[in-house]
Amino acid sequence: ATPIIIDCDPGIDDAIAILTAFVSPELEILGITPVCGNQPLERTVRNALQICELGHRADVPIFAGCFRPLFRDPIYGQFHGESGLGNTVLPGPAKKIEEKSAVDFLIESCEAAAKSGRKITLCTLGPLTNVAVALRMKPAIAEGIERIVMMGGAFREAGNRTITSEFNILADPHAAHIVFSTDIPIVALSLDATHQVILTPEHAEKFSGSAGRLAKPLSEMMAFWDRNDVRRYGSRGGPLHDPLVIAYVLAPQLFETQTARVFVEHESELCMGQTIADWYGKSGKNPNVEIVTKVDAKGVYDLFLDRLSRYALE
Ligand code: BDR
Ligand code: CA
Repeated sequence: ATPIIIDCDPGIDDAIAILTAFVSPELEILGITPVCGNQPLERTVRNALQICELGHRADVPIFAGCFRPLFRDPIYGQFHGESGLGNTVLPGPAKKIEEKSAVDFLIESCEAAAKSGRKITLCTLGPLTNVAVALRMKPAIAEGIERIVMMGGAFREAGNRTITSEFNILADPHAAHIVFSTDIPIVALSLDATHQVILTPEHAEKFSGSAGRLAKPLSEMMAFWDRNDVRRYGSRGGPLHDPLVIAYVLAPQLFETQTARVFVEHESELCMGQTIADWYGKSGKNPNVEIVTKVDAKGVYDLFLDRLSRYALE
């Protein structure tokens, strides 16, 4: 199985991504590291704990990440409701957070991976604060990272939080700048990709209807996710942003990519958080990001249906 760490800010689409990963034996989830993002840290941590219990995966350790972005004031998500998980009410959690911090966990795991040669895939579903701090403290951990498969950015698409910028990058543009300035291989599931896979009400009904004991929470979260913005998405529903990271790790053949060096605007007010791809090699810097340009949406929907329906077998 591929060893992964899920760095996230749950978040409805984070929750769907995590629940998909839980029932995918191809993945060995070493830990989950919530960060301040869609909601303050306290809530993303609580949501992560609750999602583990919901998925009957209380065995997966959770390490609390950074309280705040590196420099900017926090901004929170707009489409996840007050709890971060829509109107869904989940029990507990009885599960406890680990004592170790997310940054220490990232450092220790990647150092061990560098030694053993069993490199880790970092799946990042939120702002990149934890990963950036870990890299600043111990740059050599890059040796233990197979690649970062990230939900973040907007290249040919416009932004979703500001005119130019996608939420995960805008929420901590300095952290994103640090991560994109390394030579760690990155796969970016940006809005260019995620806007190709809309969770329409029909898909929501099919997915949740097939998910056995998870039917109720999933249908509640998925209904909350409906943006009702047909002008932008071409249909009702909302983009399956974070779940695409897990789908990519499971089935990369469903995705087409184009490679480029990526830069993050972290100084301008107007364009703060914009991700800029050097498509034609103008910067003279080596390309470090595989930007997903095309998604086999049908293949991805089938994959999610296959995975989520496994909850009906439990
Ligand atoms: C990203 O922002 C968050 O609100 C979602 O969870 C996703 O990670 C999409 O821009
Ligand atoms: Ca997220």
